[in-house]
Amino acid sequence: MARQVNKVDKPREESLKLGVLTGGGDCPGLNAVLRAVVKTAINDFDMSIIGFRDGYEGMILNNYISLDKRAVSGILTLGGTILGTSNQADPFNFPILQKEEYIYLDRSSELVANYERLGLDGLIAIGGDGTMAASARLCELGINIVGVPKTIDNDLFGTDQTFGFDSALVTATEAVDKIHTTAQSHHRVMIIEVMGRYAGWLALTSGLAGGGDIILIPEIPYDVAEVCDKIKERNRQGKNFSIIIIGEGAKPEGGDMVVKRRIETSPDAIRLGGISHQLAAQIEGLTRLETRVTILGHLVRGGSPTAYDRLLGTRFGSEAVRLAADNQFGRLVVLKGADVKSIPMADAAGKVRTVPLNSPYIAIAQSLGISLGVSAERLEELAASAAKENVNRDAEEISS
Ligand code: F6P
Repeated sequence: MARQVNKVDKPREESLKLGVLTGGGDCPGLNAVLRAVVKTAINDFDMSIIGFRDGYEGMILNNYISLDKRAVSGILTLGGTILGTSNQADPFNFPILQKEEYIYLDRSSELVANYERLGLDGLIAIGGDGTMAASARLCELGINIVGVPKTIDNDLFGTDQTFGFDSALVTATEAVDKIHTTAQSHHRVMIIEVMGRYAGWLALTSGLAGGGDIILIPEIPYDVAEVCDKIKERNRQGKNFSIIIIGEGAKPEGGDMVVKRRIETSPDAIRLGGISHQLAAQIEGLTRLETRVTILGHLVRGGSPTAYDRLLGTRFGSEAVRLAADNQFGRLVVLKGADVKSIPMADAAGKVRTVPLNSPYIAIAQSLGISLGVSAERLEELAASAAKENVNRDAEEISS
């Protein structure tokens, strides 16, 4: 049986000791959160803070550094994370290489023991869905955790936006702008593939912001004939180039997503990428127009965070410390409208927030004549069946 934290309640007037870690894929803004956590904890609450290296791996291996104000000075504008991160460190299914084979061990008891030995009162876990799923389970073992949602995918349930997304959006939009000029010069069809996993937020918003002609997202399986019709229609209008933005998780109707590689040691082993090559070959075959591919890949995860992400990360980090000081653990800091709030972490764990088909972004794309790779009638059908599924799911939740 997994080991539970042996709770020794400290008198509340004693200053608290918090741990902090960054888990999952990195994104711009992680350091802004770390800086806000450390400064708020020290300035407002006289707490002490340690930072675990490489996500939950550092907590299992007892690999940490002490974080004072000096340690976080000058990091606001830095991309990445000064603590390092890992998306292969699930404490309940931790991979260990033995004789060239990975075996998987539940190492949550070691993590709990280190938490107790270090005299921690709480932990701030900054991460995406994988980190939050592990955090929700660790809360059940008695570890006091406040979650902070990050990811360029913007797919975390319960928050209107994750930090990191805006920076990735700005980078992707800049790429679309640059591809635009060369597409025009050479009269080519240019496909730009962006990350985002199973959610199309990054593709849809960078496509809109960059003035794309066709936007293909995982939520709307596309029809290649529709895509080619749009390109041909543009050509008939004298626009002899086309820009397509496609999310890495997009797939044709009746087809599959393209899996680039499998990383068995990662909780979600699938790494997507390459659908644009398949699409380019089909477009060239059907239109005889030269079609080129640019896959942005990890580029959108790098670089300095935008002002928006610095602000959001700073607000999230400060709020996480306030929740910890107020003994409100097991909660996830979220953005709701213009406000930073919190929700139970368990409500968000294991759920993915994809683009709803009634999203205003989709309606706007249609109003602007941007092709979403399907006919208007087909999109209506898809939206109606998605709405029905949601009604059924809601009904199931209510009856359970
Ligand atoms: O979740 C962030 C993300 O960048 C996804 O958009 C992408 O599918 C995945 O991580 C890539 O993961 P890795 O860095 O392990 O290749």
